[in-house]
Amino acid sequence: MIRIALLPGDGIGPEVVAAAVEVLGAVCRSHGFDVATHTLDLGAERYLRTGETLPEGDFVRLRDDFDAILFGALGDPRVPTNVHARDILLGLRQRLDLYVNLRPVALWHESLCPLKGRVAGSIDMAVVRENTESLYVGIGGTFKPGTPDEIAQNVMISTRKGAERLLRFAFGLARQRRGHLVLCDKANAIEAAHGLWRRVLRELAPEFPDVRATTLYADVACMRMVTHPHEFDVVVGDNFVGDILSDLAAALVGGLGLAPSASTHPGRVGLYEPVHGSAPDIAGTGRANPLAAILSLAMLLRDCGQPGAATDIETACADTVRAGLTTPDLGGTLGTRDVTASVLARIRPRPATPEAAAVPAPNG
Ligand SMILES: NC(=O)c1ccc[n+]([C@@H]2O[C@H](COP(=O)([O-])OP(=O)(O)OC[C@H]3O[C@@H](n4cnc5c(N)ncnc54)[C@H](O)[C@@H]3O)[C@@H](O)[C@H]2O)c1
Repeated sequence: MIRIALLPGDGIGPEVVAAAVEVLGAVCRSHGFDVATHTLDLGAERYLRTGETLPEGDFVRLRDDFDAILFGALGDPRVPTNVHARDILLGLRQRLDLYVNLRPVALWHESLCPLKGRVAGSIDMAVVRENTESLYVGIGGTFKPGTPDEIAQNVMISTRKGAERLLRFAFGLARQRRGHLVLCDKANAIEAAHGLWRRVLRELAPEFPDVRATTLYADVACMRMVTHPHEFDVVVGDNFVGDILSDLAAALVGGLGLAPSASTHPGRVGLYEPVHGSAPDIAGTGRANPLAAILSLAMLLRDCGQPGAATDIETACADTVRAGLTTPDLGGTLGTRDVTASVLARIRPRPATPEAAAVPAPNG
């Protein structure tokens, strides 16, 4: 039994999570495993109603009672401070110490790539971003704000523990993929914080002789991703560099509507979410692309011991895109429901066996 917390959130979040839940039901039936889903009311509506963002009881529940969290998006024009999104999303990432942010990127159809002459299959990389440190720890501030003497400062944090655990994850992932890892940083300019990452990489490399570990300065990596994207397999960066490179990588294969992510800490509840935000401009129109959320579900199921179901979902999504059955963000004319229906139609039922017939339906 996989216990999944659903956090649909704001804007198009509930629309794309509903699509993913339909797909979840289909793969549960076809693969004969059981899930229990529970929806938590966290987001702008609740904040506006009660003033609560992530109450302690909900946090403890998410931490202790579930195997995984499937998240939609947060962000609502009625909450211009975005305080609820910060508390919920950053709160979960920090308090659960979800240090791995994994964003796989694969080109399914040449029309999705903004570069010339890139055929399907020629781009296939996984960006592994450190998710808890670097410039995003909120250390810093301004001195004499608004005056000619104003000083603004943000502190970049790199820890040995943080670099080592992320690099170990990346090495392990490279082993399962094509055996190449590239650490991207600015160690030439950010000598202390990024130099530490290079030292830790050198120390760990002998433990993984089957992985070719290399380094690139992040600015060079940006150019190389555009000119030679086929060279990249596993791309690692700290929170800051990883943030930038993961968006660049996603743009090479179709952009936000196709970009899933997983924020994890092995052994703890993981958070799976589309990279996109709540897209208030199209919320309620039925035009949101559900594929990033559905692909996030696939990542969730793979981590929860259902790799076959995950692969089936990814294949169904890829076939849907290759057939041109897409929402307007990918150049198509379909709506959320039609694209979801296309994915569902491609999830083949398992051949009936006496055991399969005895499997209970999901209780979500
Ligand atoms: N993880 C998150 O929850 C997250 C991430 C990014 C932004 N946000 C929040 O979302 C709100 C909107 O932010 P934004 O406009 O900068 O980013 P966004 O990702 O919501 O939207 C950017 C553009 O992409 C389009 N888009 C996004 N997802 C799409 C989808 N699935 N299908 C089709 N089109 C899609 C939108 O219509 C918009 O034109 C803000 O409140 C922001 O803070 C939340």
